[in-house]
Amino acid sequence: MLSVRLQQILRYINPTDKIADIGCDHGYLAIGAIEKGVKYVQLIDNKAAPLSVAKKNLKNYEKLSKISYSLSDGLSKVDKKVNVACICGMGGDLVSYIIENKIDVARRLDYLILEANSKNEILRKKISDLKFEIIDEDIVYDKKKYYQIMKIRYNEEAPKLSQVEILLGPILIKKHNQIFIDYLHNQLQTIHAIMEKNQVLSEKLNNKKTIMEEILNETI
Ligand SMILES: C[S@@+](CC[C@H](N)C(=O)[O-])C[C@H]1O[C@@H](n2cnc3c(N)ncnc32)[C@H](O)[C@@H]1O
Repeated sequence: MLSVRLQQILRYINPTDKIADIGCDHGYLAIGAIEKGVKYVQLIDNKAAPLSVAKKNLKNYEKLSKISYSLSDGLSKVDKKVNVACICGMGGDLVSYIIENKIDVARRLDYLILEANSKNEILRKKISDLKFEIIDEDIVYDKKKYYQIMKIRYNEEAPKLSQVEILLGPILIKKHNQIFIDYLHNQLQTIHAIMEKNQVLSEKLNNKKTIMEEILNETI
């Protein structure tokens, strides 16, 4: 059974897509994509051990899809046929590096699906600076953690994200669903815990607190 996080990521993949899974690790995302009908999957990892685990896990799927494996860094060896790259389960700074390091590849793709386990602000700032637009966004709660998922594509005309959008996600703010509200409360609880220990909030954290309180008060 796939995790809630991976199931949500898979919703952004169409059966007609040709995907590259960057940082494939165990290969579960690729398996989910093939089960959804995807016929072309490139699994990429920069370490040999996870790639060989993925190969074992995908053995029974070889008849269902064209599967290839690359021991390589980020987007550097993405096949020309691939139209969608998934970069999931890493920190926001590493996802940012992977995109910027091979920006020509990232820009020619139809879209990228990103899920950073941390530092989503850094990631949103970077993709905005590199002229990608966020087409869709979601937040899920899985094994006591919140995960933010973004579908992005290159758009030379993409307007720059505001400070609030970088912090909380332009589409997450608009969707304003229950998980997003819970996430805001959860973040504010952490900030209040810091304040209860009489620690002075940094200017950055204080700004975050104000923005999150305003967003909650505006729409609840
Ligand atoms: C925590 S796993 C995430 C697995 C899967 N993508 C998921 O979301 O469940 C991160 C994987 O990314 C790989 N990785 C880290 N940096 C990478 C890079 N620059 N290029 C390719 N793979 C990378 C690691 O070896 C590891 O297998």
